[in-house]
Amino acid sequence: MAILVTGGTGYIGSHTVVELHAINQEVVIVDNLCNSKIEVLDRIYQISGKKPKFYKVSVQDEEKMREVFEKENITSVIHFAGLKSVSESVAKPQLYIDNNIGSTKVLIKLMNEYGVKNLVFSSSATVYGLAEHVPLRETDPVGGCTNPYGQTKLDIEYLLIDYNKQHKDTNIAILRYFNPIGAHKSGLIGEDPEGIPNNLMPYITQVAVGKREYLNVYGDDYDTPDGTGVRDYIHVVDLALGHLAALNKLNENPGLVIYNLGTGKGTSVLELVHAFEEANNIEVKYVIGPRRPGDIATSYADATKAYEEMNWKATHTIVDACRDSWNWQKNNPNGFDK
Ligand code: NAD
Ligand code: UD1
Repeated sequence: MAILVTGGTGYIGSHTVVELHAINQEVVIVDNLCNSKIEVLDRIYQISGKKPKFYKVSVQDEEKMREVFEKENITSVIHFAGLKSVSESVAKPQLYIDNNIGSTKVLIKLMNEYGVKNLVFSSSATVYGLAEHVPLRETDPVGGCTNPYGQTKLDIEYLLIDYNKQHKDTNIAILRYFNPIGAHKSGLIGEDPEGIPNNLMPYITQVAVGKREYLNVYGDDYDTPDGTGVRDYIHVVDLALGHLAALNKLNENPGLVIYNLGTGKGTSVLELVHAFEEANNIEVKYVIGPRRPGDIATSYADATKAYEEMNWKATHTIVDACRDSWNWQKNNPNGFDK
């Protein structure tokens, strides 16, 4: 009896596998390693003393995936596998449609074939598009996605809603993540972006470690307290624990459920930079630049539904996340490539 974790060697997946191991849950990972490294498996072993079963397979590959379903006794699936770069999705929209939507179609086809009823899916706050007000609630309108990546997340949500309507005995948790940051406290696993980071925290840590000269702050003229963009940064371990809570919820046969996974608090770019400096006693040089096209001023979650229905809430602070991100980066200046 195992949980299938697609994308399990990635940033959020690897942290979730560690938490699954901590509750003695057997795990099977499927990942094609297009955005993660095989070394992650050793690191998971160093943390938890267990090595998950691993298949280097694309979830898009129906025949290879069928072999996995045939061999393993899968009870539930957590589906992290997907491409997530906004800029790459603008350049290669079809790749994002094929990979993200295509892999989900293969997965639900096989889940149906093999009678696997429970699925947790990685969605994103990006489905709220140009959010009109905060905090964002699960009942707020979705759509108006500003890029093909975000559109694939919304299209998959609709696909899963339809699938659940057609297969009423299935249980599906759509989790809309806000902005994951931080790393496992061991410093053995963390975020390891390819090339120049798009997201704020890995950029900050690369400036701190001397790989980049300074952080470009994308605009200080937003309608926010200090003019810089405000987001809901959530520690990746809290996020990982949200998946365990979702798996428990699915055991109650709720049908399809949607939860925001965020802290409910907004933090500005400059607040995050200063929190990082104070937590780690290290300077982060920054320059105020123009706004990044497609960015919104403010986004943070109303996370009460996840608390009320799954008894889950984030417990790590921004300071915890700043400390853990730096611990990971300084111990692994080149990520998983030593
Ligand atoms: P990640 O890139 O670190 O992990 C994704 C993993 O999926 C990688 O290991 C990659 O190799 C694998 N993968 C991609 N396509 C695959 C395929 N066809 N078959 C098998 N493996 C495949 O990303 P992450 O930050 O851990 O994100 C996990 C999920 O959460 C993604 O679906 C992402 O879109 C979603 N999400 C991430 C964020 C974020 O800020 N990190 C925010 C919201 C939602
Ligand atoms: C970005 C994506 C979003 C995706 C999310 C999580 C865009 C337009 N949006 O959202 O679709 O779901 O990541 O992967 O890319 N910032 C800087 N300098 C930097 C980097 C970021 O000032 O070098 C600022 C941004 O303007 C923003 C904040 O930091 O205000 C957070 O940025 P980021 O980490 O990229 O996350 P999002 O913009 O929320």
